[in-house]
Amino acid sequence: MKKEIISIGILGLGTVGQGVLKILQENKEFIEQGIYPYKISLKKIADKNKEIILEDKSYYEILTDSAEEVVTDPEIDIVVETIGGFEPARSLIVRALEKGKHVVTANKEVVAKAGYEILNLARKNKVHFLFEASVASAIPIIGVLSRSLTSYPLKEMAGILNGTTNYILTKMSEENRDYEDALKEAQEKGFAEVDPDKDINGFDSLNKIFILSAVAFKAKINPNNIYYEGIKNISKTDIEYARELGYKIKLLALAKNGGKELDIRVHPALIREGHDLASIGGAYNAILVHGEGFGDLIFSGLGAGALPAGSMIVSDIVEIVKDYDNYNSKFKDFEEKKVKDFKQTHSSYYLRIRVKDRPGVLAEIAGSFAKNKVSFASVIQKGEPGEIVDIVFLTHKAKEGNAQEALKEVARLECVEKICNVIRVVEI
Ligand code: HSE
Repeated sequence: MKKEIISIGILGLGTVGQGVLKILQENKEFIEQGIYPYKISLKKIADKNKEIILEDKSYYEILTDSAEEVVTDPEIDIVVETIGGFEPARSLIVRALEKGKHVVTANKEVVAKAGYEILNLARKNKVHFLFEASVASAIPIIGVLSRSLTSYPLKEMAGILNGTTNYILTKMSEENRDYEDALKEAQEKGFAEVDPDKDINGFDSLNKIFILSAVAFKAKINPNNIYYEGIKNISKTDIEYARELGYKIKLLALAKNGGKELDIRVHPALIREGHDLASIGGAYNAILVHGEGFGDLIFSGLGAGALPAGSMIVSDIVEIVKDYDNYNSKFKDFEEKKVKDFKQTHSSYYLRIRVKDRPGVLAEIAGSFAKNKVSFASVIQKGEPGEIVDIVFLTHKAKEGNAQEALKEVARLECVEKICNVIRVVEI
């Protein structure tokens, strides 16, 4: 049985940690109305920076530079981990759970790399381990998948799960801005990871779609088998051609339930202009989920920031207080599932190929594609006739492995200067 005052400890006072502090302070009354008759009390906050500047001076009375002090404090009931990064965050979460404390985190890296083990440990210690803020900050998608969509199995998800890349693509598309310039701005605005390569190369989206797939499909999956690709290769030229063809380019995280096998991947994609996901701009995130019965549902909101992430951390705290002894209800029974071999998946493709402009070129390229069972839906030649031109192809659906073989052959043709870009077209 829980006591009337639930004590909280926070590890890490970066952007998100300070967001949690602010919400707990400013909304204390409102939060406590929701958990009546219980109350929450902030017992200790830890940050390794001894010189940290905190607006409210009263926090210095409960500030320590020892995370260990927080995870071993016998009076603390719930530990909030907002350090970020894999270690020491993972070890501290483990320590806290072993000490019988509930843990809430926004740390997608820890959840993605060690989530299954940590959930087992939490269960063994009869405590909660909740991580709503780890994916798409303000969007309560983990709650939706685990608590609300329980009448029909989920068939498919498609998400824009990285604010930094969405911001860059939006700026390139709507303001004709350069990639580097837009990235710099995203970093200044604080959406990007410390190492923005993880945003740009799709790894951040990979972690997020992996977590969502595990929760949605109750699946034990090996994330190393998920294909991911980032946006570094997307140029303003491709954005412009896509627009002419009626599409927008977005970095999509996709997951399809094929029973024993799950088709999960992250890559840039052309999606039809006018589709709800195409209109998600700036640093916003969005997730479309589809299942029989409930049909298509789309959730969108801020995917990063102190208060968006802080809000979901606080809602996890509230969930723990409300559901104190029911630690085993949310995540359990993960069944081993395979990630479908990427080469066996099917897509349509946008291909931009730079060629020598002379008779017979199209026929040669078409020959290589036909041999590998890839068929064209449309072809346009861009630019002025000259020695070298870009040809843009849209293909019908083909097997990824076949498309890759065809492209290898095409790249070897004497008339082909360069495969400028290959982007999958996604109909959702
Ligand atoms: N770097 C992430 C993004 C934010 O750009 O979406 C937090 O996950």
